[in-house]
Amino acid sequence: MGFVVAIDGPAGSGKGTITKIIAEKRNLVSIDTGAMYRCVALDCLENKVEPTDIEGIEKILKDIDIKLENKNGVQKVFLNGKDVSEEIRTPKVDDVVAKYAAIKQVRDKVTPIQRKMGETQNIIMEGRDIGTVVFPNADVKIFLDCSLEERANRRYKQDIENGMNVTYEEVLESIIERNKLETEREIAPFVKAEDAIVVDTTHLSIEEVVNEILKIIDTFK
Ligand code: DC
Repeated sequence: MGFVVAIDGPAGSGKGTITKIIAEKRNLVSIDTGAMYRCVALDCLENKVEPTDIEGIEKILKDIDIKLENKNGVQKVFLNGKDVSEEIRTPKVDDVVAKYAAIKQVRDKVTPIQRKMGETQNIIMEGRDIGTVVFPNADVKIFLDCSLEERANRRYKQDIENGMNVTYEEVLESIIERNKLETEREIAPFVKAEDAIVVDTTHLSIEEVVNEILKIIDTFK
């Protein structure tokens, strides 16, 4: 087993950005598990398989091929051989991914792939259930917290920068809805692991969060 840092946190907590910086600074392979659920959702969307169609989802899972590649610190995501790194971040996937991620068959497929990634390399893995389900014995567990309003604020600014036509209220509402699905689902709900260290990012800059987490990691290494 390699050295494993688990980072769990909600959408908009800055998890992705922070994980990539820390990976580079401590020579860890960064793994974005949300990207894998996004691939499942995209494959289902493309094949018109609804989240209620469990048989259809099982068929998709049987043949699905998800690959995460890290090249010079840039993560590329391949779904069935095609580079979908950008497509999986579009609103059409944002809107439905939590529904597919709540399905047992989907998690049963994806979780073992994630565990395998920690067997042979030193990793920092980010998601919702890394410290609770995927790696309950991780060397370091961080739980990134952030207020709903600040998360909506960050996402709203990002969307506007990307030229999207949204209001703050719409973004806030969608974050509240996604959060509800993720925390209230039966399988692997998004909750803090008992032994995770909480870092609240609401009033911190990215640099401040990175420094705080580096300090924590270095005490365990
Ligand atoms: O982190 P993200 O927004 O890219 O995650 C996409 C979706 O996948 C989101 O609905 C939460 C879900 N997810 C999950 O259930 N478990 C994980 N380990 C990672 C993400």
